[in-house]
Amino acid sequence: MTVATFPPGFLWGAATSAYQVEGAVDADGRGPSIWDTFAARPEHIADGSTGAEACDHYHRYPEDLDLARRIGITAYRFSVAWPRVLPDGRTLNRRGLDHYRRVAEACRQRGITPMVTCYHWDLPQPLQDRGGWAHRDTAERFADYAATVHDALGDLVPWWVTVNEPAVAAWAGHSAGVHAPGLRDTGRALAAAHHLLLGHGLATTRLRAGRHPDTRVGIALNLTVAVPATDAAEDVAAAARFDGHHNRMFLDPVLTGAYPRDMLDWYAPQADLGHLHDGDLRTIAAPLDFLGVNFYNRTHVRADPSATAGSPALRVAEVRPDGLTYTEMGWPVEPDGLRQVLCGLRERYPGLPPVHITENGAAFDDVPGADGTVDDRDRVGYLDGHLRALHAAIAAGVDVRGYFAWSLLDNFEWAMGYTKRFGLIAVDYPTQRRTLKSSATWYARVVAANALPA
Ligand code: NOJ
Repeated sequence: MTVATFPPGFLWGAATSAYQVEGAVDADGRGPSIWDTFAARPEHIADGSTGAEACDHYHRYPEDLDLARRIGITAYRFSVAWPRVLPDGRTLNRRGLDHYRRVAEACRQRGITPMVTCYHWDLPQPLQDRGGWAHRDTAERFADYAATVHDALGDLVPWWVTVNEPAVAAWAGHSAGVHAPGLRDTGRALAAAHHLLLGHGLATTRLRAGRHPDTRVGIALNLTVAVPATDAAEDVAAAARFDGHHNRMFLDPVLTGAYPRDMLDWYAPQADLGHLHDGDLRTIAAPLDFLGVNFYNRTHVRADPSATAGSPALRVAEVRPDGLTYTEMGWPVEPDGLRQVLCGLRERYPGLPPVHITENGAAFDDVPGADGTVDDRDRVGYLDGHLRALHAAIAAGVDVRGYFAWSLLDNFEWAMGYTKRFGLIAVDYPTQRRTLKSSATWYARVVAANALPA
């Protein structure tokens, strides 16, 4: 194997999100979020857990950033919890904001560039009580919140992600009902998707016009390659629909200022699209400094007229072909999918801005040795494969500037609770002891060399 060297100045990072790692849900005036409400019902979460304690990163961030420095990463992506900064969604809680200033300062002191995600799914519950993302006003509230955070942190933080994975927030939260706020309503899911994008557009314009000229703004979209299970026409059409629902419904408005026609035609008979107002798409397509891509897996699908899982209105079912390996999440490991996504983006969107891989990683069944060490060869293999695919995409001309492993730490994996571990660093939850896994030492070598081992 030849040595794959990355471009000079390539950002090597790791990512987390507030509700998944912070715990300390009552500290310093934080208000409740929709995830506190959702996880309070044990039947919603695989192990009946909540994020109330998680990794206690709220208090332990200095120690965690010391470990990040040991790995050598040059960037850390974390999210700001809206309910810490504006507990009722609109009134400032200074102590919440101060916490994130300290986190950003702690990054800088260690030579780590912070990347802030404004929304990683923890909507203040009081805003949900007024209709949440299905309600247009939430987009305006979001832009005000993002501008407040940017104003306070923009001198320390150059990289800004407005919204993380709007597709998951909309579909898993409002259509499949497996994430907060737990709704199953196609109309509200479509409205939520639109208002998440509108919030992104409004915030992008505000942040780019704000008082910190070094600011770079993007959005993190979870992208997949939809692969038809057979070449039967209905499966091929199902794959196109899946691609439309998960990828193009978000990419097209952001990058071209239009929703995909085939998807509007598909949804129109099932839901009122009255939430689309004149001028919204212009706002949503505000110029971007970068596109964040979260990539985990390709998705194999077939037509299923009676589909009840996922997004029922889509009439598509996921399948698991034999002969592939799967992560603990049940997701196929097909690293070349990352190259396919990136090359596909370049082909489809001529004005594509520079790309950051804002998340990539895998859950495996890590078995700690007696001394707590974790020899996670599966994860090393996964990361190595995806970085080779990323390198191939760069060699093919896609302008990718950085890569963030998901995740820095094992954490609260949403509906799967603590049953799935994605971290480079193992967390022993009862003691909160941290241990670098083999993947962390492997990643440290990649970062130091700015290249993959031969
Ligand atoms: C993407 C989400 O942004 C993150 O919160 C989640 O933990 C990972 N996917 C893994 O499922």
